[in-house]
Amino acid sequence: MKASQARSISTNQTQVHEELHKILARHKLNDFQRPIAHHTAVAFNDMLAWLGAFSGDLILDAGCGVGESTINIAAQYPNTKVIGVDKSIVRLDKHKSYALQLSAKKNKTSSESTHSVGPNYLLLQADLNDFWRLLATYIQENKPIWQVSKQFILYPNPYPKKSQIGKRWHGSALFPVIVNVSANIELRSNWRLYLEECLLGAKYYGLGGNISEISIDGSTLAYTPFERKYMESNQACFKLVIRSSGRDKK
Ligand SMILES: C[S@@+](CC[C@H](N)C(=O)[O-])C[C@H]1O[C@@H](n2cnc3c(N)ncnc32)[C@H](O)[C@@H]1O
Repeated sequence: MKASQARSISTNQTQVHEELHKILARHKLNDFQRPIAHHTAVAFNDMLAWLGAFSGDLILDAGCGVGESTINIAAQYPNTKVIGVDKSIVRLDKHKSYALQLSAKKNKTSSESTHSVGPNYLLLQADLNDFWRLLATYIQENKPIWQVSKQFILYPNPYPKKSQIGKRWHGSALFPVIVNVSANIELRSNWRLYLEECLLGAKYYGLGGNISEISIDGSTLAYTPFERKYMESNQACFKLVIRSSGRDKK
């Protein structure tokens, strides 16, 4: 699907935000208190019903947009269940046409296995600010037989103005909850500084990680529409892979 040309990041911030340490320290000590929206609680229960007696690995595609990445992740990890979450019904409603395009592409090149549509994913309309908290609480209280083995956060809104630091995931009060759900996180962005800040946040929780540029040599298939848009306008894209030292490696 052809996307419009992407504008590159315009920001008044040239280095890691000077308040980030203070912000991370504050959020580590204080719980994120805000009532859970009803529609997200309903979506969360839908997910539990869909999982049923499933006892394997669960992958979260946070901010999945049209869910193209959810399909790609589901195909790449066929033994897992993948949950794509986005708050935008406009984007989620476009999923079907993206899924059909990917499946048509797959039928043309039958040897290519990375882009196929499988039954192991679910898309949900929900606010991640609530969904992540519901997930963390559910895991803690119910010790489910499934585990969140990995999280993808692909091209979140970078909120590039200095004053928007609190809106970036690592600058938000939700960050401790995010790493608690699963420390095995892959985050992609066309703004490297976003990833550098997030890595610093991860280190606050004793986690490691590294940042690399995503190759755009033509052999790389874009994972998401935003990635495709950035690559088509010759912008560099980067990924941060955060890993816990032990349990949930993938
Ligand atoms: C820049 S788009 C990237 C979409 C997709 N990952 C891609 O790469 O094509 C960011 C997405 O995050 C979603 N999003 C932002 N904040 C969210 C929130 N609090 N809860 C759920 N989705 C959110 C937006 O609706 C949007 O679809």
